Amino acid sequence: MIALGSDHGGYALKEAVKLHLEERGIPYRDFGCDSEDSCDYPDMAVPPCKAVTSGECEKALLFCGTGIGISMSANKIPGIRAACCSDAFSAKYTRLHNDANALALGGRVVGVGLAIELVDLFLDTPFEGGRHIKRLEKLAALEKEDAQ
Ligand code: RB5
Repeated sequence: MIALGSDHGGYALKEAVKLHLEERGIPYRDFGCDSEDSCDYPDMAVPPCKAVTSGECEKALLFCGTGIGISMSANKIPGIRAACCSDAFSAKYTRLHNDANALALGGRVVGVGLAIELVDLFLDTPFEGGRHIKRLEKLAALEKEDAQ
């Protein structure tokens, strides 16, 4: 199950990506927003990201105008490793090296065709493990330090 979330700036791209997920037969849960009415990306990041950290969903796809605000918000949630990507190399390597569990896309930055390519790379690329594991452990330790 893939969690989806957007603000108004990412709404149209979220809807386009939903059609692609349906074509691929990938189940998703859409946590909104549900229109282009203005809303705030920090609010919209929380439900899909918590669905990932609770185990309900494997990964989140997040959308705002730039992808930046919603990725910043997502990365405040313990256990989320969100990457804002607009190129294929980053979408692939954030899975291979960072085991990213959330991809943020900018609805005002990338077109539907590129977004779909990035989503497919993100969903289909496994984590490489190996030398990257200790780096993720250090990342998790930073989160714990922060909480103290
Ligand atoms: C909303 O206008 C816009 O600021 C938001 O979607 C996003 O781009 C912020 O990073």
